[in-house]
Amino acid sequence: MSDTQKTAKLSFGDKELELPIYSPTAGPDVIDIRRLYADGGVFTYDPGFTSTASCDSTITFIDGGKGELLHRGYPIDQLAEKSHYLEVCYLLLYGELPSATELEDFEGRVTRHTMVHEQMHNFFRGFRRDAHPMATMVGVVGAMSAFYHDSLDISDPDQREVASIRMIAKLPTIAAMAYKYSIGQPFVYPRNDLDYASNFLRMCFAVPAEDYEVNPILSRAMDRILTLHADHEQNASTSTVRLAGSSGANPFACIAAGIACLWGPAHGGANQACLEMLKEIGSVDRIPEYIARAKDKDDPFRLMGFGHRVYKNFDPRATVMKQSADEVLDLLGVENNPVLQVAKELEKAALNDPYFAEKKLFPNVDFYSGIILEAMGFPTSMFTPIFALSRTVGWISQWKEMIGDPQQKIGRPRQLYQGESARDYVDVEKR
Ligand code: SDX
Repeated sequence: MSDTQKTAKLSFGDKELELPIYSPTAGPDVIDIRRLYADGGVFTYDPGFTSTASCDSTITFIDGGKGELLHRGYPIDQLAEKSHYLEVCYLLLYGELPSATELEDFEGRVTRHTMVHEQMHNFFRGFRRDAHPMATMVGVVGAMSAFYHDSLDISDPDQREVASIRMIAKLPTIAAMAYKYSIGQPFVYPRNDLDYASNFLRMCFAVPAEDYEVNPILSRAMDRILTLHADHEQNASTSTVRLAGSSGANPFACIAAGIACLWGPAHGGANQACLEMLKEIGSVDRIPEYIARAKDKDDPFRLMGFGHRVYKNFDPRATVMKQSADEVLDLLGVENNPVLQVAKELEKAALNDPYFAEKKLFPNVDFYSGIILEAMGFPTSMFTPIFALSRTVGWISQWKEMIGDPQQKIGRPRQLYQGESARDYVDVEKR
């Protein structure tokens, strides 16, 4: 270990260990504990990974204290204002903003992969119409490995690339098909003359009986929502994708695992849960009742769309989403949307309450997104599928980074075992 290498000294029992410390480009130093068990005979203990760096990455950085989110160094508020989703996809995948030619080529490649194998249409028919679209998406995305055999070999960089493009291109088509199937309407094929967000809106809302013109306000709002959800460091679903990928599972199976994890209300399911909560509150005068419930230790109720494992300040995405909600509802002429009024008053009440201030609980990305999506015509059941289709590029980028890492090995955590010590079997007549 070079004498300039920072180290952490750890002494316990008869052990004296010196562990390397690495300094990142930004964020806290890390202590390398990979030799801890071999040299010290002990594990670390960190349920929920509150103090654990599971990997090194160059893709996304979050400063929870400042409320900062960078994608390859670019702040999310600048990307939301000046870029668009497919350009952010390029940035996340390849590390730099594309030239005009590179962007045109990338958008062309994605556009030409938006259709799904025609036989996948039958796959949907096996689901009940009232299945949650997330259930359909987990199933259909996992089944993609049964259709695209030429992009399963993860050791082949070309196949990894094709699988990445296919998933970014096809997830909107699959999400729209899940929606159409749930409302008993025919599937709408993608169109190559539409941009990514417009294509998705048309596949969701067009019907064969009449022409469908995409509203540019909705398309811009949709694209911004996709940009805001694209990636977010090592969150639960991204960690799920990395762990699944560490076993060598094919990329479609890994993304299906990420979709399954995202579904939970503590994670990507919070946008649906948040809008349902705002509707349950119903009016501004009921806000104190729900604030009290959120603070009551004996009540499992939590304010959906509030709090975050990393952000102990405003989630910068929530700030952009709130501005977008105002714009979209105003432009759509949805004045005085009661749900938006409840959301704004609830945010104000919570931020002025010592409980939330002490615990550093602020609105997160899910607090306002549902209001916009509902105003755009989506049912709450489609909120998390939209989060999933947006996050696919983040999952894929992190998966590619992991697969390309020469240090990569299968993830296999250990445990603090507190079960029974070894004991002999007891025959049933002696129990
Ligand atoms: C996403 O990780 C990511 O990056 C995720 C995400 C992404 O882009 O991938 O940002 C997307 O998942 C955003 C979060 C969406 N979830 C919700 O809005 C659900 C409501 N929020 C909570 O469930 C909670 O805040 C979490 C799950 C988001 C974070 O939980 P932590 O970090 O495990 O924090 P915690 O549960 O330990 O809470 C700390 C304290 C607790 O009180 P004490 O036990 O210390 O007394 O704060 C309280 C909690 O009870 N608390 C809340 C609360 N969130 C935390 N109290 C009321 N309402 C809340 N929303």
